[in-house]
Amino acid sequence: MAKKVAVVGAGVSGLLSLKCCVDEGLEPTCFEKTEDIGGLWRFKENVDDGRASIYQSVISNTSKEMSCFSDFPMPEDFPNFLHNSKALEYFRLFAKKFDLLKYIQFQTTVLSVKKHTDFATSGQWVVVTENNGKEQSAVFDGVMICSGHHVFPHLPLESFPGIQKFKGQYFHSRQYKHPEGFEKKRILVIGIGNSASDIAVELCKKAAQVFISTRHGSWVMSRISEDGYPWDLAFHTRFKIMLQNIMSQTVVKWSLEKVMNKWFNHENYGLVPQNKYLLKEPVINDDLPSRILYGAIKVKSRVKELTETSAIFEDGTVEENIDVIVFATGYTFSFPFLEDLIKVENNMVSLYKFIFPPQLEKSTLACIGLIQPLGPIFPAIELQARWVTRVFKGLCTLPSERTMMEDIIKRNKKRIDLFGESKSQILQTGYISYLDELAVEIGVKPDILSLLLKDPKLAVKLYFGPCNSYQYRLVGPGQWNGARNAIFTQKQRILKPLKTRAIKTSSTFPVSFLLKILGLLAVVVAFFSQLQ
Ligand SMILES: Cc1cc2nc3c(=O)[nH]c(=O)nc-3n(C[C@H](O)[C@H](O)[C@H](O)COP(=O)(O)OP(=O)(O)OC[C@H]3O[C@@H](n4cnc5c(N)ncnc54)[C@H](O)[C@@H]3O)c2cc1C
Ligand SMILES: NC(=O)c1ccc[n+]([C@@H]2O[C@H](COP(=O)([O-])OP(=O)(O)OC[C@H]3O[C@@H](n4cnc5c(N)ncnc54)[C@H](OP(=O)(O)O)[C@@H]3O)[C@@H](O)[C@H]2O)c1
Repeated sequence: MAKKVAVVGAGVSGLLSLKCCVDEGLEPTCFEKTEDIGGLWRFKENVDDGRASIYQSVISNTSKEMSCFSDFPMPEDFPNFLHNSKALEYFRLFAKKFDLLKYIQFQTTVLSVKKHTDFATSGQWVVVTENNGKEQSAVFDGVMICSGHHVFPHLPLESFPGIQKFKGQYFHSRQYKHPEGFEKKRILVIGIGNSASDIAVELCKKAAQVFISTRHGSWVMSRISEDGYPWDLAFHTRFKIMLQNIMSQTVVKWSLEKVMNKWFNHENYGLVPQNKYLLKEPVINDDLPSRILYGAIKVKSRVKELTETSAIFEDGTVEENIDVIVFATGYTFSFPFLEDLIKVENNMVSLYKFIFPPQLEKSTLACIGLIQPLGPIFPAIELQARWVTRVFKGLCTLPSERTMMEDIIKRNKKRIDLFGESKSQILQTGYISYLDELAVEIGVKPDILSLLLKDPKLAVKLYFGPCNSYQYRLVGPGQWNGARNAIFTQKQRILKPLKTRAIKTSSTFPVSFLLKILGLLAVVVAFFSQLQ
């Protein structure tokens, strides 16, 4: 009999988990407390308690080709960076294609997940849900927690002395929806994550003045990279990772700073990170530097104190007549329905490879999407779900509790070395390294060396090209016949939405090539004229 799996939540993590359960012949039931799929990406005008809430203008900061699911490329005509409504459209297409809706019970909240009395032998869970005031209990062989981690606001008011006296309006970024209502205001945005930057840029078009206060600064990158391609295609390649691994730390640090300052000098803009060499998640924002250049946004240091109407900063400067403070200070996460099964202390959680609680007698409970890779999250979520479903099925096994704990400690230390100790970096991990790690567990990591003999063209693409999710469908369990083609047609899907104006194709004969030929001819002519 197929094993029954409960999936908590029908956001991206839930949908991918459902698909992987079906692929592995498991029997999933997804409980989604709202009326629809999409989680965070389904914009709503109102802010619901216990549900992620985004502003109307959110556009993905990872590109469609790098974010898409491994056996389901995004439609060719989709833009490269997706408005939230477009991302939701993609999830709907995915759910339809793989017929996932039939597994979802909407408006059904998971109230508790508890070990069954015979858990030590069966590994089973008792899941209590509530729908329309009616509680139900059911037994499952496995549980996948897909409830999201951008739900509960981190609002550190205790770090802002005087906030009680402040007479203006203040709120967390998750409350922000539109710029309307903020016309002609003087607004202070706290933090310099992607929320803070997006909101500051949007508000400064209407406000009298926007200030952005950062205690540690941040690197800011454009969505547009080499030759106008999306940044992440150039950023996430196996070749670059290899270079980073073989280069000395001094050279890596030097080149990081060089690359980050190529667009604009962060020091001149007051944005330079306090620790320039941490690989903290960068801000991806095309407009922030230009708005700073216009003077519409002014970068300030940490807030020392607030008064009824003003903000006093660490450097002694004061900004008067502040009307609004937006705390874009990130999120905390918790699992209210799990009791003490997964303990979150100081926003930290001990999970093996960010997924499995190591102390359970049976590996039948997993967290999906509780991660912040230095790249698009969707491919990471997908590989997590592929691995978990194979563990549930007994096709992959986990090491001992002790080994898992050692790994957690080691990983945590490495995380602090690479990304620093900020609360916003607690779930941070490398990108290709993490994908490959999971791929090895599943048996789907492409072997580039052997491909070099069998299919050299593909091997070169995999090594020097963007490390997209299709790479993990070329071999092994879940192999997809379309993967190779998807890799070779990627450029087409990137350029298609840009071809909105008919342009006569310019001569394909490059001028530089012509100059080289002419130069060569000149050398030959000069040589023969010397002989005469
Ligand atoms: C503004 C913003 C923009 C982002 N942009 C990007 C981006 O461009 N690229 C990228 O890679 N990542 C991005 N992220 C990261 C983001 O977390 C992921 O993209 C993704 O949405 C996470 O999906 P999820 O399914 O894990 O969680 P969610 O989308 O939050 O979904 C969780 C679901 O679980 C349901 N649920 C919760 N608790 C229960 C319960 N007890 N019972 C039943 N149902 C429950 C919720 O209703 C919800 O539907 C962004 C994050 C934010 C905040
Ligand atoms: N367009 C998009 O795609 C988009 C938009 C928004 C968000 N996102 C994603 O969503 C996730 C959450 O982003 P986020 O910006 O909401 O949160 P975040 O990345 O966690 O950033 C929080 C910011 O608040 C600051 N902060 C926290 N506590 C503070 C305190 N006590 N005093 C002063 N500053 C404080 C942090 O500074 P320190 O670093 O100094 O701690 C950081 O700059 C990220 O993964 C992000 O990429 C994506």
